[in-house]
Amino acid sequence: MGFKVGLLGLGTVGAGTVQILQTPDQRHPLLTELEIHKVGVRSLSKARDVSVPSSILTTDLASIVNDPEIDIIVEVMGGIEPARELILTAIANGKHIVTANKALIAKHSDEIFSAAEKHGVYVLLEAAVGGGIPVIEPLKQSLCSNRIQSVMGIINGTTNYILTRMVNEGAEFADVLADAQRLGYAEADPTADVDGGDAADKISILAALAFGGRVDRSQVSCEGIREVGRSEIAYAEKLGFVIKLLGIAERSDSAPNTLAVRVHPTLLPKSHPLANVNDVYNAILVEGDPVGQVMFFGRGAGAGPTASAVTADLLNIAALLKVGRDCAKQADGTPLLDPLLACAYRQEFAIAPLETLESKFYARFLTQDLPGVIGKLGTCFGDHHVSLESIVQADKRDGLAEIVVVTHVVKEGDFRSALAEIEQMNVLSSIASVLRVLPT
Ligand SMILES: NC(=O)c1ccc[n+]([C@@H]2O[C@H](COP(=O)([O-])OP(=O)(O)OC[C@H]3O[C@@H](n4cnc5c(N)ncnc54)[C@H](OP(=O)(O)O)[C@@H]3O)[C@@H](O)[C@H]2O)c1
Repeated sequence: MGFKVGLLGLGTVGAGTVQILQTPDQRHPLLTELEIHKVGVRSLSKARDVSVPSSILTTDLASIVNDPEIDIIVEVMGGIEPARELILTAIANGKHIVTANKALIAKHSDEIFSAAEKHGVYVLLEAAVGGGIPVIEPLKQSLCSNRIQSVMGIINGTTNYILTRMVNEGAEFADVLADAQRLGYAEADPTADVDGGDAADKISILAALAFGGRVDRSQVSCEGIREVGRSEIAYAEKLGFVIKLLGIAERSDSAPNTLAVRVHPTLLPKSHPLANVNDVYNAILVEGDPVGQVMFFGRGAGAGPTASAVTADLLNIAALLKVGRDCAKQADGTPLLDPLLACAYRQEFAIAPLETLESKFYARFLTQDLPGVIGKLGTCFGDHHVSLESIVQADKRDGLAEIVVVTHVVKEGDFRSALAEIEQMNVLSSIASVLRVLPT
């Protein structure tokens, strides 16, 4: 008995998926039982990276999700609509879903997972975070007996590529971005990557699965890398750090059922496990009790890696169908789902406001070159309960003194109050940069 797959999309990931399904040799034998029944696209005449019979290509995607013969829908078309509507229809028709669509899952997981639970189908999304890196299923299954304390990672390949080149070449952000666009490593519209939205979608998904609850994506604060200049890269290097765009999710001590979830450029000590993850590579560091630190590393995007994750999800579902695990029924007749594979939220999480979080900070000030300025800055920080780990006057820049400060771990609200007061000082020319530093 074979399982019929309906594919929504035949772009980068869709073609990669077809490529794996069409070349099962030396892969898992269950692959041979998966049959591509229909493929939905926008254009029937477009040249494709893989060859599929024209008889199964269609622009009528509703006909795929309503096809009674199809068991599993693979959504690799991207975007919110019509992907959301098509997935919900497929679920209502009792079809299992595999999706790579992080934007959709980050914003609509509640609706989609609830519908899946109601109709007794699986929604698997390994490809939505970290491309080819297996991290979603390990979080749901292999690490599920742990109390997860934190999940943090480099989860956007484009920004990691840009930051790596800025370090290696001493280049400015805008120049590297333009070159990355020319080389195809960054989109023509790079907003979702460089402003952190893509990473925020992914850390919201990781947080929800790691901590087992609903995370409101709209509450997740997100700062990108546009403000990271060559000077910050150089100062970070001198101070023993490297700058990475991190998605971070951790339990908050301040209130029950509260998580601290955010995305921002971060100074990492060079000895940190994530500090040497470079170029387009992604890595996710999970800390749990009692397992300790576990790190997942690999390619976060691309046809092959992402299709590897999509087909693993397909095989997971096919394996359950094969052994008839979908036949067990609850009292109301709904199929009984494997509790480790199904995505179900156990609670609702609040997101802690940034000003309540604790962090170390790096700040660079340009001030008049007068005696006593360092003392004034130090006093102002002290008045706001911000203790300093180091304060150094660097070279002069355009006739102004450049002062670089690194704080101890302080409350963000206190640090921001100190900055607000410093902004009023008449010796200040500008606050050139403020970045968070990961405590060791
Ligand atoms: N690319 C990656 O490395 C990567 C990595 C991880 C996750 N993802 C996620 O995977 C999904 C797919 O990404 P991708 O890079 O494969 O996208 P893509 O190359 O742009 O392919 C999208 C495919 O969907 C079809 N499509 C889109 N909207 C459609 C519509 N309204 N009606 C019919 N067909 C439609 C397109 O048809 P035509 O070909 O006819 O235009 C195309 O075949 C996205 O959610 C993305 O975030 C991608």
